[in-house]
Amino acid sequence: MSRTVIAGTGSQLPVRVLTNVELEGMVETSDEWITTRTGIKTRRIAGPGESTSQLAAAAGRKALAAAGLEASEIGGIIVATITPDMSMPSCACLVQKELGATSAFAFDLNAACSGFVYALEVADRFVRTTPGLKILVIGAETLSGRVNWQDRNTCVLFGDGAGACVVQGSDSGSGILASRLYADGSLWELLNMEAAPSRNPALVREGNDGSYIRMVGRDVFRYAVRAMGQAVDSLLAENGVVMEDVALLIPHQANIRILRSLMERLEIGEKKVFTNVQRYGNTSAASVPIALDEAVREGRLQRGDLVLFCVFGGGFTWGAMLLRW
Ligand code: UT7
Repeated sequence: MSRTVIAGTGSQLPVRVLTNVELEGMVETSDEWITTRTGIKTRRIAGPGESTSQLAAAAGRKALAAAGLEASEIGGIIVATITPDMSMPSCACLVQKELGATSAFAFDLNAACSGFVYALEVADRFVRTTPGLKILVIGAETLSGRVNWQDRNTCVLFGDGAGACVVQGSDSGSGILASRLYADGSLWELLNMEAAPSRNPALVREGNDGSYIRMVGRDVFRYAVRAMGQAVDSLLAENGVVMEDVALLIPHQANIRILRSLMERLEIGEKKVFTNVQRYGNTSAASVPIALDEAVREGRLQRGDLVLFCVFGGGFTWGAMLLRW
């Protein structure tokens, strides 16, 4: 049976590192608070030449190289992002131009921090119904441009970056085995970015033009643990897999305490869970593909391993995916 395999991965992080100590000089916070409440020590901040599409294209180029493919061999580009360079055209079209992927269709997908797994699921459907099709799936964000740098509740949490993978069909037995996606729009007020960046006075409310990310952190925390836990439990049960069979869990990287609660809930040891939130903070849709690329480069994945992704983000959206590497 042909499945969709990940043929190559890549990632790109901005050069600028922003430390907790630097944040102490920007808002009333401390390295100690940020470290104990979130696990985050540093995050990357995009500078000139590091727009979302530029980071995405750089990550995409590395994924193509890892897969041994030319850009012209790619039939589609899907970019998961909530911070595209422009409202139109899509980030994916800018990536297509940058890479010279002239045979590729291109579109963006918005599922907030869950975007990469949503995009991978969409790509999987394309690949399984179109023989020979190869798709570049990217998660890319520059949330540093959308956080209120005066709001200590949010500005310490997020970072910029991009991760990518090339997917294609294979009869090897490896590939995407199953996934489950969920959403609950009734909870949108707990985590949102209401408007596109704008100078429109009509949008200015309470000194906030609505373009900043806003979050009721404690509620989001609670939902995130429960939702990701349930998504993983259901996915494993439906596919007759037990946690002991899973070699590596790559969860969305939002907060080390969320990840620890999840580990406890799922009864999975720390060694089997990939974390890099310490270095990059929450990079939204980019977090899982960056983590995946690092896991691959660190040799954490062996052929035949069962790998789990689980994600949670604004919407709310969440989900889980099971793959054989
Ligand atoms: O990607 C999916 C979306 N995001 C997430 O998954 C994030 C989910 N939430 C979280 O990670 C956590 O809720 C936070 C890290 C945002 C906050 O941690 P918490 O343990 O839930 O803290 P809290 O919201 O209960 O706030 C505790 C206190 C508050 O002070 P008061 O009201 O108790 O006096 C905050 O004002 O900590 C204060 N606080 C800070 N203090 C120092 C909030 N941010 C900071 C800060 N530095 N940066």
